Amino acid sequence: MGLYIKELNIDGYEKVIHAECSETGLHAFIAVHDISSGPALGGTRMIPYRCEEEALRDVLLLAEGMTYKSVMAGLPCGGGKSVIAIRPEIGKTPALLRAFGEVLNYLNGIYICAEDMGCTPEDLEIIRSVSPHVLGLNEGSGDPSRFTARGVFRGIESSAAYLWGSSSLKGKTVLIQGVGSVGEKLAEHLFWAGASLLIADTDPAKTARIAHEYGARIIPLEEVYATPCDIFAPCAGGGILNKTTIPSLSCHLVAGGANNQLGEKADARRLAEKGILYAPDYVINCGGVISVASDFDRKNITPAVIRDKTELVYSRLPEIYERATQEGLTTAQAADQMVIETLTKIQNEKNAIA
Ligand code: NAI
Repeated sequence: MGLYIKELNIDGYEKVIHAECSETGLHAFIAVHDISSGPALGGTRMIPYRCEEEALRDVLLLAEGMTYKSVMAGLPCGGGKSVIAIRPEIGKTPALLRAFGEVLNYLNGIYICAEDMGCTPEDLEIIRSVSPHVLGLNEGSGDPSRFTARGVFRGIESSAAYLWGSSSLKGKTVLIQGVGSVGEKLAEHLFWAGASLLIADTDPAKTARIAHEYGARIIPLEEVYATPCDIFAPCAGGGILNKTTIPSLSCHLVAGGANNQLGEKADARRLAEKGILYAPDYVINCGGVISVASDFDRKNITPAVIRDKTELVYSRLPEIYERATQEGLTTAQAADQMVIETLTKIQNEKNAIA
């Protein structure tokens, strides 16, 4: 089928591959960052990219983020991610998705894919028809975004308690950027908690529907960063907290479901200097991967177990915030330190056995 797979040598990564298929138009990258704790688990992002470099950069950052997320959540899996650069003239055809399944097979199970932006459970079913290395299907744990949204919501409550002495969100204004699978469910949690909602999405049909359902106010895309709110919840793409956007922000807390919200590590310092508390993304959006990882052991990891593990976001955040304060770190650095300490412990235990 004209499938071409090339391995890329990238420092700090277990394996990175670039795949192209002339027949189906598939253009994909898979990055396996770390497999110390188990196979790398991470979703497949299916969106258009401006260029190859942008897609590669995205997959590398996302894969590393998955390692941190899984370690922080105490899961028996490593970190990986895949991206399919969608060409608008081709779209997501079943043939293209099947070709992606063949690429997964090439990795022989060190990477397992699941849902991410632009990828639906139906897409996963098609990929599954050629590859067993797919989790989060409807017959298994299903749509992970309900757990992701719940974890983000509890992270917001926990951060509110830290900032304002009460976890109550009654009367707080929350701006959600991206009301897709995660953002819409987060909106529902926030609505019932008494928050006022501001929403923005590139899809006007979605914002119109959600504005109608929850009485949310629609914010034009170009006004998102400068709109005053108590809490900004990024739930779309990554890299949106950067030296251009941070100066415009007018909020007290950033806590959302999007992966890799910081454009670069220094952006965490920029937020702190502006007096904005940042809930590290991979700490609060772990509900989805906890849910998907339950497919390794469906008998014992019931929805109640997934719920309880997701709820731990609430108590994990103050530990991170305290450590950041005590050690003069940003909250992102404090979270990273905790992960690095755990990873080092895992490596040492492995070395001791070997
Ligand atoms: P989705 O594709 O269902 O929703 C994303 C939404 O953002 C869409 O409605 C889209 O129209 C909108 N959007 C895209 N660009 C935008 C922009 N510039 N401004 C405003 N809206 C924009 O994706 P999903 O699954 O909700 O994921 C959202 C984020 O959360 C992603 O960063 C994803 O990696 C992350 N995430 C998702 C998890 C899940 O369980 N689905 C788990 C952990 C993280």
